[in-house]
Amino acid sequence: MKAVIVYESMFGATREVAQALADGLRSAASGTTVTVINVNQAGESIAAGADVLIVGGPTHIHGMSRPESRAEAVTWADDSDRTLTLEPEAPGIGVREWLESLAESTGARGAAFDTRADFPRILSGAASNAIHKALSKHGYTEVVPSESFLVTKDGPLEEGERARAQAWGQRIASSLMGPPD
Ligand SMILES: Cc1cc2nc3c(=O)[nH]c(=O)nc-3n(C[C@H](O)[C@H](O)[C@H](O)COP(=O)(O)O)c2cc1C
Repeated sequence: MKAVIVYESMFGATREVAQALADGLRSAASGTTVTVINVNQAGESIAAGADVLIVGGPTHIHGMSRPESRAEAVTWADDSDRTLTLEPEAPGIGVREWLESLAESTGARGAAFDTRADFPRILSGAASNAIHKALSKHGYTEVVPSESFLVTKDGPLEEGERARAQAWGQRIASSLMGPPD
C-alpha cells in the first residue's frame, strides 16, 4: 500500500502531526510505503499512484491559510513576545493552492486534518473542512472522518496530541485494510 501525506506548517505543529500520523500508519500496516512531504516540496504528481492521500494544514482565520495569513504568521514568528519559530520550508504556497492543481483521482481514498487553537470548533473554525471538500471534489473517497489536533496559545501541540495523531494514523490503516478475512 502506498500512502502520501502532504502537510503545510508555519511553526512546526502540523509537521509534527504529519510525522506522528506516518508513524501510526507504518506501525499498523507493515509494508506500507509512507511519504511525508511539505506542500512546498510536493509538486503536482506526488499523489499519483497513491492508495491514500492525507492532507493537513494549520487553521488560519477559520479555514485554510491564504498568502495574507501566512504573511501574518511570519510577523508572529518575528515577534519576540511570542516563542514561535518559522519552519524553514514554510515560505511558498499552502495546501489551498496545492489542492487547486491536484489531479483528479480515480479510486484513491483521502483524509483531511488540521491543527487549530483549543476553542470550541464553532469559534476556531477548522481547515480540515475545506481540505475534505477539495479532496472530495477531486475524486478522493473519505477513508475516515476529518480530524483536528490542538495547539496551545504559545504554539506547540497540546499534550497527548502526538499520540492521538498516531492513533488516527492506525485507524486510517485499519480502514484501508478492511476487516480480516
Ligand atoms: C494568521 C493566523 C490566523 C489564525 N487563525 C486561527 C483561527 O481562525 N482558528 C484557530 O483555531 N487557530 C488560528 N490560528 C492558529 C493556528 O491554527 C496555529 O498557529 C496552527 O495550528 C499552528 O500550526 P503550524 O505550527 O503547523 O503552523 C491562526 C494562526 C495564524 C498565524
